[in-house]
Amino acid sequence: MTPRMTTLRKNIAAATAGMVLAAPLAVTAFTTPAVAAETNVDNPFVGADWYVNPYWSDNVNEEADSVQSSDPTLAAKMRAIADEPTAVWMDRTSAIEGNVDGPGLRFHLDEALEQKQGNDPIVLQLVIYNLPGRDCYALASNGELPATAEGLRKYKEEYIDAITEILAEPKYRDLRIVTTIEPDSLPNLTTNMHDPKCVEAEPYYKEGVAYALSELSDIQGVYNYVDAAHSGWLGWEDNATGSVQTFTEVAQMTNKGFDSIHGFVTNTANTTPLNEPFLPDPSKQVGGQPIRSSDYYEWNTAFDEADWTADLYRRLVAAGFPSDIGMLVDTSRNGWGGPDRPTAASTSSDLNTYVDQSRVDQRTHRGAWCNAAGAGIGERPQAAPTDFPNSHLDAYVWVKPPGESDGSSSEIPNDEGKGFDRMCDPTFNSPKLNGLLTGALPNAPVSGKWFSEQFQELVANAYPVIDPDGVDPDPEPTDPDPEPTDPTDPDPDPTDPDPEPTDPTDPDPEPTDPTDPGEGGTCDVTYTTNDWNSGFTATVKITNTSTQPINGWSLAFTFPAGQQITNLWSATNTSTGSTATITNAAWNPTINAGQTVEFGFNGTHNGNNPAPTSFTLNGATCS
Ligand code: BGC
Repeated sequence: MTPRMTTLRKNIAAATAGMVLAAPLAVTAFTTPAVAAETNVDNPFVGADWYVNPYWSDNVNEEADSVQSSDPTLAAKMRAIADEPTAVWMDRTSAIEGNVDGPGLRFHLDEALEQKQGNDPIVLQLVIYNLPGRDCYALASNGELPATAEGLRKYKEEYIDAITEILAEPKYRDLRIVTTIEPDSLPNLTTNMHDPKCVEAEPYYKEGVAYALSELSDIQGVYNYVDAAHSGWLGWEDNATGSVQTFTEVAQMTNKGFDSIHGFVTNTANTTPLNEPFLPDPSKQVGGQPIRSSDYYEWNTAFDEADWTADLYRRLVAAGFPSDIGMLVDTSRNGWGGPDRPTAASTSSDLNTYVDQSRVDQRTHRGAWCNAAGAGIGERPQAAPTDFPNSHLDAYVWVKPPGESDGSSSEIPNDEGKGFDRMCDPTFNSPKLNGLLTGALPNAPVSGKWFSEQFQELVANAYPVIDPDGVDPDPEPTDPDPEPTDPTDPDPDPTDPDPEPTDPTDPDPEPTDPTDPGEGGTCDVTYTTNDWNSGFTATVKITNTSTQPINGWSLAFTFPAGQQITNLWSATNTSTGSTATITNAAWNPTINAGQTVEFGFNGTHNGNNPAPTSFTLNGATCS
């Protein structure tokens, strides 16, 4: 980053210099003139140098040394990014003073002062990540504090207060501190309240986040950015609405309301692309259906972080947040370059083939969050990128330091409270991914620890490609995103509200009239499953083989071996015991003559998973 001086800083420096010259006081206690702390600016990244964590740089340079003889080009690419700024994670109370994983907060602040050039501002990124009951919907980043009143007390007094006391020390007043506030916490409260651990954590998350925001925003020079998950999590209409309600509620619990929040950060530690260049329009029809209805996008219209940040910004401002809030996107690992990156849109006329061949995101499922195989480093950190104006981006940032693991691929005992989440196990077909494999890299260490193989792949698959000479070419700078989620543009298909198929807490509304047998009634059902240990995913397709449309449908069948449905999408589950009764979702009641509807579910079995032998649709037996 080229050091630059903001006008504001120049003015402060000039004013102070003038004051000292004009009024030389007979005070000898100060060896330096008193300089007022900078007033917070609109975008803290603009005109500033960014703090480089020397510990991360050392890891990168060591990694470069280790591949130097086998792959000098890869080593050169690593060295070219070794001085990129990455965030410092306060991932447990001991991180404040320093622990086995690195030095404490004061070290980084002092080092930032060392890196500061004269009066040029410098920005240091800090992640606040230690809530009671942390990571309530997963295991890999469970933390040290329990979801109890005592856990919350410790969070406030031993963690947040300890951090703010240090940040408020006068010697650090000239640093700009950008915080990422509690990744995943408020998003979990929006979508994962079917998990008792999230229910238990809810009051502590809300009060903890509100406390952190209040205390941190009291310090001049601190800029709070609240974590807002990513497009593949909150992009559906209901989730987007719910998350903004939660953000608003928590903002109102703070002492400064909206002013305690400077902006939001998306994609923290995730690999969701900034842009899907070959899928610009979610409503594009392929095979007679909109591409957002594909298996991969599950009716979500937000295909990438450009979409989600634009949509989020608009929703937040509509909810009362000031229009000068800014967005950050963690681009540390969402590059998706390498040999498998498509170079053009598919020409297939099959919906799912078209989407799968066109998308740059190579994951099995957008919910796969752990050590994604095939991912690459994304955009280099950059202030005020102009690529997506509707997104109001303050910066591309590297919150997750590339090379640090998301979780271990098998159980590894540790004293940090971290569990083993099978989302990090490459052999696991996860029910949370509709039974698909996780796509995680093997041999991963516990979350936060250095993971050489992953770092090597991230550098090799970087997009934009890393120039070993240190220049950052952007091969796709003029790839505008049409931001199709623009809310002023009403849903092009109003009969298709988002079904949010992966959110079992969000049941579809009752069908219009499920008892109406419709005309015709002849049907064909295909039932296929993908089985593992004691679980399975089923895909059920109902074809209307009559000559009349079916308006409102209800499919009944019996499980032959005691199987049970655990969660279901694209339909409504009204089953009891071994008799399954599935009715249409609000958005798919009609099956025109010759047409097919499809729904799916995850279930459990007892080691044997025979298919049902007979299906009835609206009372009539299907073939
Ligand atoms: C881990 C933290 C770590 C952070 C950055 C998180 O997933 O839980 O311990 O500091 O990643 O690597």
